[in-house]
Amino acid sequence: MAKVLVAYASLTGNTEEIAELIAEGIRQAGGEAVLKSVTDCNADEINNYDAVLLGAYTWGDGELPDEFLDFYEEMDELNLAGYKAAAFGSGDTGYSIYCGAVDLIEEKLKERGAEVVQESLKIEYGPNAAEKDSCRNFGRQFLETCAAVS
Ligand SMILES: Cc1cc2nc3c(=O)[nH]c(=O)nc-3n(C[C@H](O)[C@H](O)[C@H](O)COP(=O)(O)O)c2cc1C
Repeated sequence: MAKVLVAYASLTGNTEEIAELIAEGIRQAGGEAVLKSVTDCNADEINNYDAVLLGAYTWGDGELPDEFLDFYEEMDELNLAGYKAAAFGSGDTGYSIYCGAVDLIEEKLKERGAEVVQESLKIEYGPNAAEKDSCRNFGRQFLETCAAVS
């Protein structure tokens, strides 16, 4: 059974809710999902998992939130070759760089050698009913991709 780390940063709960729904989808597909705030884990913990999903809300002008910065810098020490990964997060289309943090995370995953196996999931604020399904599907699809190759 694939064990997936779902690590996220969330200030007002939107990204946390997305992360919980993604974890639900992973479990529905028969995988194990471990949900953690990035403030409660180090990037090198990724090595304890088969695959990783990273999420954040966007702050400032398309930036990573402050609480994601340590984890992001720690990623520079990692070789993620062979790891399946994807990014997700919440944002607000009223800002000029919508969900910029999600793009930064995806770029970092690729830079460290991870294989980003699906398009990033970007949700405006918290997920509505249809988007809740999209979040679960994102988790389910990710797990199925991991299971297909392991
Ligand atoms: C000061 C500030 C700056 C923000 N900058 C952006 C931004 O550049 N791009 C974006 O898409 N969203 C931006 N947002 C919106 C948040 O990412 C959005 O409210 C998100 O749903 C918060 O997620 P959370 O509940 O997980 O903390 C900003 C919000 C605040 C308060």
